[in-house]
Amino acid sequence: MSDAADPRPKVLVARVLLPAGMERLAETCEVIEGGLSASPERLLELAPGAAAIVADPTVAVGDQLLDAAGSELRVVANFAVGHDNVDLEACRRRGIAVTNTPGVLTNATAELALALTLAAARRMSEAEASLRAGAWVGWDPREHLGLELSGASFGIVGMGRIGRRYAELVAPLAGETLYVSRARKPEAERELGVIQVDLAKLLGRADVVSLHVPASPETAGLIGADELRAMSPHAVLINTARGPLIDSAALAEALREGEIGAAGLDVYEGEPAVPAELLEAPRCVLLPHIGSATARARAAMARLAADNVLAVLGGSEPPNRVA
Ligand code: NAP
Ligand code: GLV
Repeated sequence: MSDAADPRPKVLVARVLLPAGMERLAETCEVIEGGLSASPERLLELAPGAAAIVADPTVAVGDQLLDAAGSELRVVANFAVGHDNVDLEACRRRGIAVTNTPGVLTNATAELALALTLAAARRMSEAEASLRAGAWVGWDPREHLGLELSGASFGIVGMGRIGRRYAELVAPLAGETLYVSRARKPEAERELGVIQVDLAKLLGRADVVSLHVPASPETAGLIGADELRAMSPHAVLINTARGPLIDSAALAEALREGEIGAAGLDVYEGEPAVPAELLEAPRCVLLPHIGSATARARAAMARLAADNVLAVLGGSEPPNRVA
């Protein structure tokens, strides 16, 4: 139930939202923020009477939270393009719209995938760590030998918005670019010369494999021990998509055993915990889910999340409905 003294619709921002979104919402809504450390239990306490919930990839939105919000809930606006944290079926059953923030974070995330590609291929994390530890005692021509990317074969798994932008960014380096996608992408093939192949062929041929598919039952465990063994011993694996795509124990083993050359990861199963085996694995660059973390992208995501909420509450079609 909304606060009887406040006739405005209640919006629960599960964690935090940047001012670009908060200010828009606050013009017409009562906005309540859970804060960065809001536990699932705290969200259940805050949810009753909410007409909208602004969630993010760390907030599980399922039956429990939807039931706690009650019959006034009309929209779950995810502050992210990925929406695997939201139970779409549970929302559909209740007639609750679900929205996301696509497009405005495409450049930021593809740029981060490129940064991880360069950092992993050139073993930057371990080289910097050794310098900071005082272990650099002089130029050693045998040390920190990485993979040269000019002329490399790039493999993109998921040729959607971010995968395509990554293909554009690596084009000046790429000898060839292969891709896996459910639907063929004739325009990208024409404009970028990318070639559609199946996953087995891509893994066997690419020097760099970059993942850009959403998390789903279909993509869970997409890269496991067999797939890692199919890659070249010098190959670099990049994941800015979602943690569950990769079997992290198998990846750590492949790095230890030299079955692949290096990895660059921004996402993990069970975030914010990072699997211990990855923290200990060699030739592995690890970032804390910062794919969309540019000031421009995050402000645009906040505006879009607010616009989606306001559209549904105002009775119109939201710009970014996923359910
Ligand atoms: P998108 O435009 O929807 O692209 C996803 C692509 O994956 C689509 O082309 C789709 O193919 C393809 N795909 C889906 N399931 C597949 C499967 N089973 N096999 C092969 N291809 C499959 O999404 P996006 O905007 O590029 O975002 C991609 C993902 O990146 C998000 O879902 C999110 O998880 C992640 N992300 C992470 C960060 C971060 O901070 N690290 C930031 C933004 C996004 P079709 O075109 O054939 O349908
Ligand atoms: C971030 O992970 C997103 O999906 O936008």
